[in-house]
Amino acid sequence: MEGFRIFPARRIEGEISVPGDKSISHRALMLGAISDGVTRVRNFLTSDDCMRTISAFRAMGIEIEEGEEVRIEGKGIRGLEEPSDVIDLGNSGTAMRLILGILSGQPFFSVLTGDSSLRRRPMGRVTKPLTEMGARISGRCGGEYPPISVVGGELRAIEHKVEVASAQVKSALLLAGLYAKGRTELHLPQVCRDHTERMMRWFGVDVRSDGLSISIEGPAQPKGSDVYVPGDISSAAFFIVAASVMDGSYLRIKDVGVNPTRTGILDALSMMGADIEIEGEREVCGEPVADIIVRGRGSLKGIKVCGDLIPRMIDEIPVLSVAAAMASGETEIRDAAELRKKESDRISSMAEELRKAGVHVEELGDGMVIRGEGRLLPSVFESHGDHRVAMAMAIASLLCDGGPSEVRDVGWISTSFPGFFELLEKVVVR
Ligand code: S3P
Repeated sequence: MEGFRIFPARRIEGEISVPGDKSISHRALMLGAISDGVTRVRNFLTSDDCMRTISAFRAMGIEIEEGEEVRIEGKGIRGLEEPSDVIDLGNSGTAMRLILGILSGQPFFSVLTGDSSLRRRPMGRVTKPLTEMGARISGRCGGEYPPISVVGGELRAIEHKVEVASAQVKSALLLAGLYAKGRTELHLPQVCRDHTERMMRWFGVDVRSDGLSISIEGPAQPKGSDVYVPGDISSAAFFIVAASVMDGSYLRIKDVGVNPTRTGILDALSMMGADIEIEGEREVCGEPVADIIVRGRGSLKGIKVCGDLIPRMIDEIPVLSVAAAMASGETEIRDAAELRKKESDRISSMAEELRKAGVHVEELGDGMVIRGEGRLLPSVFESHGDHRVAMAMAIASLLCDGGPSEVRDVGWISTSFPGFFELLEKVVVR
C-alpha cells in the first residue's frame, strides 16, 4: 500500500512528452506477432499492461527484443504456438479482450487469467460473438469472467451488432476476422477509438469503415511494418487538466496522439472555457500526432457531458471530474454506465474520493453530477486499485487548499504511466 504525499501547487509550467499510447502499443505488438516479417516499434509504452502482452506472445513462441525500439519477429497468422501454461494478463482488459480474438483463430488450447480486478470484468461481450464465429470458449459464469479457456480453429465470418461502443470488442472481432473466411461485418452504436482499423491498414490489411459499420475480408495476412507510437492523450489528460485549472500555467506536450476518436477531453475542457491549442498536426504511421499547448485560465465553468462525446473520452472522465470540481456551476456526466466496468467502478470511486475533498457529488446509474466548489480540501485519497483514479486524485491533490494530501496505493499507476510523479514534479511550480 505505497502512498504518495502531494503538496499544493500554484501553476504548471514547461514542455514535456508523455509516454507512448497504451492502446496503440498493445496493437503494435499483437499485429506484429501475427505478421509476416519483422515489426519495429518506436516509443513503445513499457508499462505493466503492455509488458503483459509481450509476455503473452513470448509464451506463444514469438521472439520479441526490447531496447531503444521493440523488435517483433512475426510468424504469420498461423505461426503462434500453444502456450505451455496459463497466461496471466495482470490488470489489462485490452490485452485480454484483444488476445481472445487472436486465440479464437488458433488450433490449440490456451487459458487466460488476470488479477482480481480483471477477473471481475465482463468478457461475454467478446466470448459470445467469438463463439458464434466457431471458437470453443469457456470461463467462469458461462464465459463471462476469467479465467477463460479457448480452443480455436477454423472461424466463420459473422455480421454482428456490438451493443456497447467498445473498441476492445470491435478490435477482438476484427482480429478474429483476419482468420475467418469471408466478410466479418460489425455495427457499433457510437464511434469509438479506431486504432485497430488504422493499424491494420498500416500493416496492409483492407479494413472498410464509416465509423459505425466496419468490415474486414478474411483470411488476411498483415505484413510486418515499422510503427511509431505517439504520446498517450489519456496520460496527457492529467497534465492538461492541471494546467487548465491553474491560472497562469503554460504547458506544451509534444507529439501526442490526437486521433479524433480520442480527443473528447479536449472538446469537453474547451466547452468549460479552457484554452487549448493544437499545433503542428501531422500523420505518422496512420495516426494524427500534434503538440498540445495549454494556457491556464483558472476559471472553468460546469457543462453537460453525454452522448457521442463519452466514448471519445471514456478514460478521461475521472480527471474531467476533478476539473468539474474546480469549475463554477454543475457538471453533469451522463450515458457513461461503462465507467462502472473499468479497472474499478469509476463512478463510485471518483464520487467517494471527491467527497473526501469536500465536493458535492451526486452519483447516477450512468454518471454523476458534480457541483464545482472552486476549491478542494486536503485528505487521504485511495486509488481503488485503479491507475486512473490514482492519477486523477494526484491532480486533485495539487489543487487542495492548505496542506499536503496523500494518495494511497499508487503502485497501480505503472499499469499505464511509469514515471508519472517524476514528470509531474518537473512542471509543477509551488
Ligand atoms: C481500449 C478501449 C476502451 C478503454 C481502454 C482501452 C482499447 O475500453 O477504456 O482503456 O485499447 O481498445 P472499451 O473498449 O471497453 O470501452
